[in-house]
This record gives sequence, C-alpha cells and structure tokens, in this order.
Amino acid sequence: MKSIDIKVLIDAKQLEERIKELEKQIEEDYKGKEIVLIGLLKGSIMFMAELAKNITNDVQLDFMDVSSYAGTESTGIIKINKDIRDSVEGKDVIIVEDIIDTGRTLTYILEYLKQKSPNSIKIATLLSKPSRRVVKLDADYTGFEIEDKFVIGYGLDYDEKYRNLPYIGYLE
Ligand code: IMP
Ligand code: MG
Repeated sequence: MKSIDIKVLIDAKQLEERIKELEKQIEEDYKGKEIVLIGLLKGSIMFMAELAKNITNDVQLDFMDVSSYAGTESTGIIKINKDIRDSVEGKDVIIVEDIIDTGRTLTYILEYLKQKSPNSIKIATLLSKPSRRVVKLDADYTGFEIEDKFVIGYGLDYDEKYRNLPYIGYLE
C-alpha cells in the first residue's frame, strides 16, 4: 500500500470530549423523552455510535442512505437508496450527519422527513464547513466548525477509504 501523509485535524480525545458535551446538551433539551436518532450512512456511523452510547434517554436508531445525483451542486436533487425502517410519526427525531458542506443534502432530507409527521426534528452534525454553504442551513448541534478542507476519518471517506481512522484528518 502506498503510504500517504495524513495530518491530524481533530484527535480521538477531542472528538470524545466534544461528543460528550453534545450528548449532555441533548439530554438537557430532551429531558425524559424518547429520541429517534436517524444516521445518514455511511459517514455518520462513528459519530452516531459514540453519541448513542452516552445518551441516557431511551433511544431508537434508524438509518438512511442517500446520494447526490450527478450535478447536485446545481440541482440539489438527492436520491434515497435506503429509507428509514420505522415510522417517525409523533416522534422526536434527530438527524445525525458526519459533515455539512453545501447544506443541500440535509435541506432535502429535513423536508423529506418532515412529511412523515414527527413531533420534532433537529440536526446533529459532527462537522460543519460554514464557508461552503450554498443554502441556508444550521445544525442544532454541531461538533466542530472547520475551514474549507477535505477531511477524512471517523466515518468520512475519500474514495471509500479512511472511514476507519479514529481521528479526523486531512490529506496534504
Ligand atoms: P452537502 O450536501 O454539500 O452538505 O454534502 C454533505 C456530504 O458531502 C457529506 O455527508 C459527505 O458525505 C460529503 N462531504 C462533504 N465534505 C466532505 C469532506 O471534507 N470529506 C468527506 N466527505 C465530505
Ligand atoms: Mg454523507
């Protein structure tokens, strides 16, 4: 395997500590309520697992797999490869995402899930690149705001590689 130079942007300890803070905030906001976490595959898996482990509320887990059609940068049309399994009608939903870039994916998913009549719906994202946004979209829970760098690890891939890194890094 060709060795490449990966620089660490956010290390494992920083991730763990920040996710614990988010989880405390969520518990505070959802006192005693059951929460449905909907993770967007595949990038959210590590964040989803860490978040879910720490929340003391009753938690249901579900997943969606979505992808952008070619040309999404201009159209914002998202294809749903796998939908949620269980009804979210009347439930308190948090969408769990790895990173918000242009904001198009989550804008679409948010509208899509709202049509399924949840009681409430919020967004938790591990990372956000505010400078890249083309549609106005803010997460309710954001782990880290980062500059415009292509990042990998902790669920995030480059060409399906590096998802298993225990930290967030970038390629130089
Ligand atoms: P958006 O619709 O532009 O917000 O797209 C967000 C999606 O793009 C994320 O769920 C990731 O799959 C992907 N993405 C955006 N930036 C990065 C990055 O820096 N590394 C890896 N994937 C990224
Ligand atoms: Mg993604």
